[in-house]
Amino acid sequence: MAIPTSRTKEKAQILINPDLCNGCSLCVQVCKDYSLIMQNNKAIEADDPFFGCIGCGHCMAVCPTGAIQIRGRELSPDDLFDLPGKESAATYAQLLALLQRRRSIREFRDKPVEPELIEKILGAAQTAPMGLPPSDVNVLVLENRERVRAFSQDFCHYLAGLKWFVSGWFLALMRPFWGKTNDELFRQFVKPLFHIYTGEMERGTDLVTYDAPAAFYFYGSPYTDPADPIVAATYAMLAAESLGLGTCMLGAIHPLIQSGKKARKFREKHGIRFASREGVFVIVGYPRIKFQKGIRRTFASVTFQN
Ligand SMILES: Cc1cc2nc3c(=O)[nH]c(=O)nc-3n(C[C@H](O)[C@H](O)[C@H](O)COP(=O)(O)O)c2cc1C
Repeated sequence: MAIPTSRTKEKAQILINPDLCNGCSLCVQVCKDYSLIMQNNKAIEADDPFFGCIGCGHCMAVCPTGAIQIRGRELSPDDLFDLPGKESAATYAQLLALLQRRRSIREFRDKPVEPELIEKILGAAQTAPMGLPPSDVNVLVLENRERVRAFSQDFCHYLAGLKWFVSGWFLALMRPFWGKTNDELFRQFVKPLFHIYTGEMERGTDLVTYDAPAAFYFYGSPYTDPADPIVAATYAMLAAESLGLGTCMLGAIHPLIQSGKKARKFREKHGIRFASREGVFVIVGYPRIKFQKGIRRTFASVTFQN
């Protein structure tokens, strides 16, 4: 048995060199699939794991003697790298300063984002945790302003062909099925947004992606944990911040390109490989406007239990 993803449906192979195993049992402790057990002071593969090796690689990364190799599910020993030293990792104060300095940026300078920075952002985002390895997050990168603009123009053109979706009769028809909250959201947010996006685009103003010099779209597959693209996008956003770029997450595009034939055509045209439950855009570029102050934010609620 193995947990399926869009990239693999096989379990990974576990190879243990008994001559190198020193019996420390760290691999057994970190494997929550119970794929490994100790026998005669050596780690061996278990006969009855829960799912079969998912290829997280933790056993190989924790082994002090290099006795374990995991191959399969897009993983191999070549994926191990030396940990950066603790002294080079950001402190809480440094991380908090980065987080506090971030603002959603929607005004960009007319300066392209260098390809090296796009690579760095992707490199950092790929370190994000995922529901199950191997990551089932897909990324569409719109590398320059012309690409971003063309995408947004086409998106507005696509929306213009879907006006029935926010028409009075359709919303009235759907209310019993999708409930009061969705009805409120559609009438008070989605419907006006349709008109704002398409109307402003007709007047030459891009309120979809704000004429950003680059954009990333993180999305899943039918198998993906819906949180995965959002976590990866958050990592990308913070990486971009650390590189001196301004960013803004855009949640409005994804849900509108999921269902129906027109949506499928739109996705195919733009190289989007799957429909998926969750996805989000992150636009990036050099900010044109500088903020003077931070803005304190609060959660809707925090409930402590002790
Ligand atoms: C999941 C998500 C979706 C968002 N979608 C949009 C969007 O479609 N358009 C937009 O202009 N801003 C969008 N934003 C940005 C928020 O509006 C922004 O975070 C909020 O106004 C607070 O500002 P701050 O990020 O500077 O704290 C989104 C943010 C998140 C986290």
